[in-house]
Amino acid sequence: NKGKYEHYMQKEIHEQPESLTTTMRGRLIRGGSCKAKSVLLGGLKDHLKTIRRSRRIVFIGCGTSYNAALAARPILEELSGIPVTMEIASDLLDRQGPIYREDTAVFVSQSGETADTLQALEYALENGALCVGITNTVGSAIARNTHCGVHINAGCEIGVASTKAYTSQIVVMAMLALAIGDDTISSQARRGAIIDGLFDLPSKVKEVLKLDQEMKDLAKLLIAEQSLLVFGRGYNYATALEGALKVKEVALMHSEGILAGEMKHGPLALVDETLPIVVIATRDACFSKQQSVIQQLHARKGRLIVMCTKGDAASVCVGGSSRIIEVPRVEDCLQPVINIVPLQLLAYHLTVLRGYNVDQPRNLAKSVTTQ
Ligand code: UD1
Ligand code: BG6
Repeated sequence: NKGKYEHYMQKEIHEQPESLTTTMRGRLIRGGSCKAKSVLLGGLKDHLKTIRRSRRIVFIGCGTSYNAALAARPILEELSGIPVTMEIASDLLDRQGPIYREDTAVFVSQSGETADTLQALEYALENGALCVGITNTVGSAIARNTHCGVHINAGCEIGVASTKAYTSQIVVMAMLALAIGDDTISSQARRGAIIDGLFDLPSKVKEVLKLDQEMKDLAKLLIAEQSLLVFGRGYNYATALEGALKVKEVALMHSEGILAGEMKHGPLALVDETLPIVVIATRDACFSKQQSVIQQLHARKGRLIVMCTKGDAASVCVGGSSRIIEVPRVEDCLQPVINIVPLQLLAYHLTVLRGYNVDQPRNLAKSVTTQ
C-alpha cells in the first residue's frame, strides 16, 4: 500500500524516520546515574567474545548492501581495533579469496536471498569463519544459514532501488561497532556520543527530508544531462557510491561515485564547465581536504553542487557559483545516514521527470537469485 505516495520508492524514502526508529527499538540503552549508555543486540550477545577475538572482520555483500557496509567500515575499525576488509560477493567467489577460521565474515543483504552473497556464505562456512548475517528478512536463506546475526527490522521494502534498508543497515552496523567496542573504557565517551546521535537520528532525518522540493528543483536542472559525478571521502565515500548508484539504477543516467582522494589520478581529466559534480563536504576530519578539492574543481570551472553542513555555505562556496545543499549535522560516523537522503530524493525526482519506471527500473530485479 503506497498510501499518499505515488511510488514505493518515494514512500520508502519518506518513511525513514520511522524505519530507523524501528531498527533501533529495544536495542539502545540510555544509561543513567550508575549505568553506562550501551547497545543490546540480542542476536549477537553470545558471540561478541568470539568476534572480539577474531583476526579480521570481512564485510560481504552486493549493490546497496555493500555500500552500507562501506559506510560503517570506519567506525567499526575505530571501535573494534580489528582490521576490517570489504568484499563484493561475486568478486570473492571469482578469486576464491582467502577466508580463515579466525575471521568474522559479515553478510549484508536486504533480501537475505541474493545468490552471490548466499554462495559466498557457503564458501565462508566451508572455510570455518564465524558467519554473521545482517538482513531485513526473517527466515531468509542468509538469516537461516549464518551462525548469528541482526535483523534490521526496516519493514518490507518494495522499490527495487534500496533506500530505507540502506540507512537501517548503516545504523545496525554502527550498533555492531558499539557492541564490539563495549568493553573498551578509553572509547566510552565516543560511544556515548554516538548513542546520543542514534537517539537523535530520526528527527534529523525528518529535517533533511524537508529538502524534497529543493531536490526536485535540482532534478529539473539536471534532467537532460548525460552524466553526474559524486565526490566523497572518509565516512562519505560510501555516500558518493550509493548516491551515484541510485541515479544510475532508477534515473538511467550515467553516474559515478568517486573517492575524492583519487581525484588527481584520473577523474580530474573529466572536469569541464558542462559536467555536473556533487561534492560531499559535510563537517568531519576530512573537511579541509574537501575544501581544497572544491577549490581545485572550481579552478577547472567545474559545475559544482556542494553538500555541506547547515551554516557552512560560505566556507564551501568558492566564487559564489556553486549550488549548495545544506544538511543537518550529526555525529560524524552517522552523517552518511543523513547525507544519502537528498541524493535519494534527487534520483527519485530525476526518474519521474525523465519519465522512467521508478519502482521497477528496466533490466533490474529486487532480489537477484541467479548468478
Ligand atoms: C528477537 C526477536 C524479536 C523480539 C526480541 C525480544 C525474532 C526474529 N526477533 O529480536 O521479535 O522482539 O528478540 O528480545 O524473533 N540471526 C541470524 N542471522 C541473521 C539475522 C539474525 O542468525 O542474518 C539470528 C540472531 O542471531 C538471533 C535471531 O536470528 O538468534 C533473531 O535476531 P534478531 O531479530 O536480530 O534478534 P533480537 O533483536 O534479539
Ligand atoms: C539487487 C537490488 O541488485 O540486489 C539492489 O536491485 C540490491 O537494490 C542488491 O542492493 C543486493 O540485494 P540484497 O537483497 O542482497 O541487499
